[in-house]
Amino acid sequence: MAQELRPVDPSTIPQLCGRFEPVGREIDAEELPVEGSLPSDLTGAYLRNGPNPKFTPLGSYTYPLEGDAMVHGLWIEAGKARYANRWVRTKGMAAEERAGRALYGGLMTPAFVDTALLGPDPDPGWPFRLDPFVNVVRHGGRYLALEEGTPPYEITAGLDTIGLFDFGGGLPSGLCAHPKIDPVTGEMVVFRYDVEAPFLTWAVIGPDGTVTRPPTTVEGVDSGFMIHDFAITEHHLILTIGPAQFDLDAMLTGGAVLQWQPDLGTRIAVIPRNGSSGPMWIHTDAFWAWHFANAYELPSSASPGVTSDELRIVLDFPWWSTLGLGLGGNEEPIHGAFARATLNPVRGTVDLEHLDETGTEFPRIDDRLVGREHRYLTVAGVSGRHELVRGEHDRLIRYDMQTGKSDAFDCDGVIGEVTFAPRPSGTEELDGYYLGFVTSFGADRSAWAYAWDASQFPAEPVAKVAIPQRVPNGLHGNWFAAD
Ligand SMILES: [Fe+2]
Repeated sequence: MAQELRPVDPSTIPQLCGRFEPVGREIDAEELPVEGSLPSDLTGAYLRNGPNPKFTPLGSYTYPLEGDAMVHGLWIEAGKARYANRWVRTKGMAAEERAGRALYGGLMTPAFVDTALLGPDPDPGWPFRLDPFVNVVRHGGRYLALEEGTPPYEITAGLDTIGLFDFGGGLPSGLCAHPKIDPVTGEMVVFRYDVEAPFLTWAVIGPDGTVTRPPTTVEGVDSGFMIHDFAITEHHLILTIGPAQFDLDAMLTGGAVLQWQPDLGTRIAVIPRNGSSGPMWIHTDAFWAWHFANAYELPSSASPGVTSDELRIVLDFPWWSTLGLGLGGNEEPIHGAFARATLNPVRGTVDLEHLDETGTEFPRIDDRLVGREHRYLTVAGVSGRHELVRGEHDRLIRYDMQTGKSDAFDCDGVIGEVTFAPRPSGTEELDGYYLGFVTSFGADRSAWAYAWDASQFPAEPVAKVAIPQRVPNGLHGNWFAAD
């Protein structure tokens, strides 16, 4: 029985308008105009993913949880740049293209559409669409566009869609949108949550792309919780479970599928990567974190990898008092901070310190230090000088976690996540460039890609590359150095 849903009115949804407004064209542009100069030794691709609905969404649209995936690519070589953007052509999107309209309902309003319209081999997940719009990573020679909890879509280095990828059958249900690639071992560590048992699993993919640890249940999790990101150290996974609980009964009776339940508190599972034991649990007051900058183990006299009372793990992240999506549950007004948590997993304690009472997002480090001690990290923040909507930032902040000092650059536009592109010959943490897309505050909402010399930050970007069409506010991207 089809449930009739009406298209949303985009003008009533801030994340479908203005600097978020989806673009409808896929373009290729060479020899882009550059203000300043691009480093001549930087060769590779900066790819960034984000939601970009092709058709007006049906019923509801919840940012940042849904929308057709569009990858924006900036290729840099010999001081020149070119740009292209492509949708990730999922089977669900292909079905909607055949129909000429949206078929699936929004996340908060699933539509029980005629499955015959979806084709003979639809994406898994109906009545929800598979939307791999969150992130794009390269591992085992493959470029993967990721949603959370679903199989990724493989794309080419030139952004053409290849198709669903399940790691040779090794991860049939998919993975999270924020896998962590160990820079030393080349392993990709992933997790996946679900609304049904097993509610939370983790897995490892070897550097060649084969699954070396199949999905392994995290014992002690007995219902579904939304978990967006996690962290790894050299020897552990750090899975933080905030009280964002799925409630399927509420969904079926018209309530929100996701409920904020602060009475449950937040739990942190510290799991040995070698699988030698199950999780060590830390229970604390409720907080929420979308993203983690990094985690690492403090030096100890115990043998590396041995779990002892001496084990301390540092976890840096933008802390939030609640989920802040205005869904169900008991949400208080939200406030944010940049936090450092020092975990003692054996004793089950956490020392949580707010380093800056400022709401930020999109934390990143030099990815060559994932799981190892970092000194610097960047986040996107808010200057307070411009009118922004939820999900927008206009300030790039860099924290020096050693001195506690921070530097900030206020953009003349909206900025999202930046990624660090190391200089090929460099090994130092600041020997490279921060790359990110910027949408100007002007009425034309013109798009730019900025490149800052990290060693000179917060000095002006060394290059501002003009993109010949808008690049809507998006989510995560990465720098892929040329092989
Ligand atoms: Fe994310």
